[in-house]
Amino acid sequence: MKKIIIANWKMNPDTSARAVALARECEQEIASAKGLDVVLAPPYPFLREVASVLTVSSLGAQDVFWEESGAYTGEVSVRQLKDAGVEYVIIGHSERRIVSGETDDMVRKKIQAVLEGSMTAILCVGERERSGGEIPAFVGAQVRSALGGIKKTLLKNLIIAYEPVWAISTTSGANGSCTPDMMFRARLAIEKVVADIYDQQIAKTVRIIYGGSVSPENIATIFSAGHMDGALVGSAGLNAEKFGMIVRNASGV
Ligand code: PGA
Repeated sequence: MKKIIIANWKMNPDTSARAVALARECEQEIASAKGLDVVLAPPYPFLREVASVLTVSSLGAQDVFWEESGAYTGEVSVRQLKDAGVEYVIIGHSERRIVSGETDDMVRKKIQAVLEGSMTAILCVGERERSGGEIPAFVGAQVRSALGGIKKTLLKNLIIAYEPVWAISTTSGANGSCTPDMMFRARLAIEKVVADIYDQQIAKTVRIIYGGSVSPENIATIFSAGHMDGALVGSAGLNAEKFGMIVRNASGV
């Protein structure tokens, strides 16, 4: 399975000139990386301009709305994203669930709209508090809810990102980092839910990736000991040099 590295720029940088410059720098850094997919996900207003400078990476968006068109002030549809060159859409990021009050039901509608629109959906799931034992059942519940009613044939365009909320942007935080063992257990738990809803074969085709303080130093372990198929990168993705190192280290695994 081809590995994937996705940079989620969140609400950065502040101008389109800076976004284009960052995209160019990232492209230069990753030019030699082979055998894996790379996605850059800038804020909505910069999508088109960033798209125009991408040659190695693909374009991602950080959100979407499920309706096709109409009176939905501030929302952006699947078609509008496609028209801007977007191929991947991040859905249900914890910052959207927590800050913007996105519910499991909204996440499900977005997943459905993106998959039916033949784009790739990156479904984010993850527990809020660190727990010493088993991966909390609600990670499984988040996956189950997000996939409710989704046809099996659409799953080929699904990526599931395990992002424990407590491990996001906390390289030296009080919570510590997510261990490879926890990642692997999360992977198995997610796979089991997908296999329960669909079947074992489908579960093996869904890429399961990790997000939360991904760095050039930990990327190889995330793949080897964590058994992840890729990574969702936040802050390190805003530094082209670091991002380049992540991608290069990942392509060597
Ligand atoms: P981080 O963010 O890499 O800064 O921890 C990850 C994310 O929020 O997807």
